[in-house]
Amino acid sequence: MLSKFVPLPPRPIVSAAETTARAKKFFEDISQRRTVRDFADTPVPKATIEWAIKAAGSAPSGANKQPWTFVAVSNPALKTKIREAAEAEEAAFYAGKAGKEWLKDLAHLGTDEHKPFLETAPWLIVVFQQNYGIDETTGKKSKHYYIHESVGLACGLLLASFHQAGLTTLTHTPSPMNFLRDLLHRPLSERAVMIVVAGYPAKDAMVPDISRKPLNQIAQFFE
Ligand SMILES: Cc1cc2nc3c(=O)[nH]c(=O)nc-3n(C[C@H](O)[C@H](O)[C@H](O)COP(=O)(O)O)c2cc1C
Repeated sequence: MLSKFVPLPPRPIVSAAETTARAKKFFEDISQRRTVRDFADTPVPKATIEWAIKAAGSAPSGANKQPWTFVAVSNPALKTKIREAAEAEEAAFYAGKAGKEWLKDLAHLGTDEHKPFLETAPWLIVVFQQNYGIDETTGKKSKHYYIHESVGLACGLLLASFHQAGLTTLTHTPSPMNFLRDLLHRPLSERAVMIVVAGYPAKDAMVPDISRKPLNQIAQFFE
């Protein structure tokens, strides 16, 4: 197939010094993002969710296959069903299925099988990876590439977008989460990878006192 090219969309010309200032400013903002597990029930407009999902959908992906589906749930009855199913899985997980090491690693987060936020938060965005594509008219299967990497990048943009919008998120991964495909009527070609819980934090929300690795532990430079 012949490639069709268009000009790179216009963008401001940024001086070298300004790139540093901008990168620092972005770091100062995004490093304030925290996973919150205590949400207010304050509503968030559907339009906010739509813009955030559009931002996520702008992520790069292997061969531009965009192997993701975002299912946004604010319906209270459905949120209750998701909570009940997630808590059933999590009860088994915390009762020992996770194994000693995993439970020890989670201890500092103070999490358990109770997931009230799945009902309290105004929106749950369930992210599915598409293991392969299906042509809507012919039903023919097509390959997807670098699915995990692509979906991970999209989820990062989703979280960044919510943070930028002034909201908080929780990346929730009930284990296992096959129930989400059934509850949300997604096809067998898809697998749920996470629930992004989004909303305003509860008034007195607390977060674990964690630290992030310094630059010299996460980066190496060859100049
Ligand atoms: C892939 C992934 C899965 C996660 N699953 C859960 C989860 O199921 N429950 C939970 O409370 N936190 C979960 N988290 C949140 C992490 O515990 C949290 O990101 C980490 O402790 C760092 O805290 P911070 O996000 O506030 O920087 C998950 C995070 C990621 C990236």
